[in-house]
Amino acid sequence: MAGTLEGKVAIITGASSGIGRAAAMVFAREGAKVVLAARRAEAGQNAAEEIQAAGGTALFVRADVSRAEEVKALVEQAVSKFGRLDCALNNAAAIWNQARRTGDFSEEDFDREVNGNLKSVWLCMRAELEQMCKQERPGGTIVNVSSVNGLGGAPGGAFYAMAKAGILALTKTAAMEYAADGIRLNALVAGAFDTPMLDKAMDGAAGGNAEARKTLEQRYLSMIPLRRIGRPEEAAETAAWLCSEASSYVTGHSMIVDGGLTAWAR
Ligand SMILES: NC(=O)c1ccc[n+]([C@@H]2O[C@H](COP(=O)([O-])OP(=O)(O)OC[C@H]3O[C@@H](n4cnc5c(N)ncnc54)[C@H](OP(=O)(O)O)[C@@H]3O)[C@@H](O)[C@H]2O)c1
Repeated sequence: MAGTLEGKVAIITGASSGIGRAAAMVFAREGAKVVLAARRAEAGQNAAEEIQAAGGTALFVRADVSRAEEVKALVEQAVSKFGRLDCALNNAAAIWNQARRTGDFSEEDFDREVNGNLKSVWLCMRAELEQMCKQERPGGTIVNVSSVNGLGGAPGGAFYAMAKAGILALTKTAAMEYAADGIRLNALVAGAFDTPMLDKAMDGAAGGNAEARKTLEQRYLSMIPLRRIGRPEEAAETAAWLCSEASSYVTGHSMIVDGGLTAWAR
């Protein structure tokens, strides 16, 4: 049986780790030709080789998605290798583990967050939209990864929440603007997933104290109705669905994948 992304060309940013890496595997399993992007070449290359070893098609491109010229080159390389661009998962992001109250951050903190976690997504969207509009048989699907932190406030993490909220606004606006071009855009609003980022965030919040971390993890789990942290593959499967024809009438949507964490507030 053909995969749900058979023959599609897909860029996945942040594919060297966590959700992005899992998505690269799922997209390839579904038949996509996957272009994996990240800054760490060895980890990204390993992921691409894992796909190839399983019989899939993959290309790793080293790119810092907060840099316009590298994003442009990423899309150009994808198109020069595979001929077009059908899907994009703008997933790359970083955390800097500096829990502070909103007024205690510096301007440098603000700029770093915006560049690394918001402008980066827009830079990707811009290059991807340009390609999707101009190619023969225009159209495509874009999924931007946001966070439950972007739905409300996140004490200690104002700028991360701000960046993730900004992604939702960018996604919805572009979804309305580009629908006529055959391009669907949706946001994947992630809850807690078992990745290096969550590990780092938990450690940071616990101040490196193992006992405090255990308590924190238990408190967090008690807030999740499904009583477990998500597996990266579970976010990846949702992203693949949002990129596939199975979601052909879905655009401008913020799809929350959080084990029910925010269900009480919706
Ligand atoms: N895990 C969670 O609980 C959780 C919760 C809510 C939302 N999210 C969101 O889910 C997405 C994936 O996170 P994750 O948990 O999978 O984190 P992760 O394991 O730390 O992976 C982040 C990925 O982003 C890449 N990256 C970061 N900055 C980049 C840049 N400037 N240019 C290119 N690549 C960059 C990293 O690769 P390099 O270091 O190699 O560049 C890495 O591959 C993020 O958008 C995150 O905000 C995660």
